[in-house]
Amino acid sequence: MVDPNKPKDIDAHSGVETTGHDWDGIKELNNPAPRWWLWIFYACCIWAVGYWVVYPAWPTLSGNTAGVWQWTQYKKLAEEQAEITARRGEFAKQVKAQSLADIKKNPELYAFAVAGGKAAFKENCAACHGTGAAGGPGYPNLNDDDWLWGGKLEDIYTTLKYGVRSTHDETRTSQMPAFGKDGILKSDEIASVADYVLSLSSGKGASESGGAVYSQNCASCHGDNGKGNRDFGAPNLTDAIWLYGNTKADIVAQVNNPRHGVMPTWEARLPDETVKQLAIYVHSLGGGE
Ligand code: HEC
Ligand code: HEC
Repeated sequence: MVDPNKPKDIDAHSGVETTGHDWDGIKELNNPAPRWWLWIFYACCIWAVGYWVVYPAWPTLSGNTAGVWQWTQYKKLAEEQAEITARRGEFAKQVKAQSLADIKKNPELYAFAVAGGKAAFKENCAACHGTGAAGGPGYPNLNDDDWLWGGKLEDIYTTLKYGVRSTHDETRTSQMPAFGKDGILKSDEIASVADYVLSLSSGKGASESGGAVYSQNCASCHGDNGKGNRDFGAPNLTDAIWLYGNTKADIVAQVNNPRHGVMPTWEARLPDETVKQLAIYVHSLGGGE
């Protein structure tokens, strides 16, 4: 307790009143707080009160005071997400409304379509074609410029929309006959035509009989020169790209009892703007024509 009757203790050295506290002869001067410090202190108090009023601040039994602005991080996030969705929705609408060629001409829209296509590809296509779209046995590589059914934007779009040998009425379709299984060719004919097919890509000569079997049975789909035909999805047999393998045994197997690759139709499964984005993405991979 400070005794009010006690005379003021003035420090002899500085002439300033002391607080009266005394530690083994060391006394404390009673200097006022600096002016600048006080002003900042008052400003902080006012700021704090203002903050309590507008922002969520004090805990209450049921949660916290909400503040007059009703601000929350959840709300802020929701607003930002709504803005993104609105932007996306706007782009998606444009993708839906515009032709593939027009989308390609609009750089911003095109970038949006490629990015959207990439995401949709991972979800829907990577299981068969691989994440990088490099394919595998029976599943075509979509990065190269070798196309079974065509590499123009419109071709790819048609392939995606209707599929290949799919359940859709307008599916791309064709069947290579089972020359061996159905007894159309004898096994020695199949062996010689397989040699002939191999000679198309290796450049090494083959027997004339193989060439004759080819002209009669295969050229109608794979072309006189073996370059394939996109109307039938018949692969080019003269290049180094093989769907089902490049050994003689692989080719004999295909001629005996061919596989008929199935690519699903996406029309009923994905909205049209997604199919368009996918076509644009696949086209952008490097092999697009
Ligand atoms: C169930 C497996 C499977 C799924 C899933 C699949 N594909 Fe395919 N896709 C195939 C097969 C098999 C072929 C080859 C068809 C053939 O032999 O003609 C093919 C062919 C294609 C072709 C034609 C290639 C060419 O050379 O003409 C394109 C383009 C394509 N797929 C894109 C896609 C896209 C994009 C998706 C996802 C929306 C997708 N595929 C999903 C199996 C699949
Ligand atoms: C009716 C059209 C048609 C005829 C005729 C035909 N093919 Fe095919 N061939 C195809 C199609 C379509 C494919 C691709 C199958 C697929 O995509 O699953 C194919 C695939 C192949 C392949 C596999 C190519 C690869 O990349 O792995 C070989 C090899 C082949 N044919 C050889 C022949 C030979 C040899 C003959 C004649 C004896 C023949 N084809 C007759 C349509 C035909």
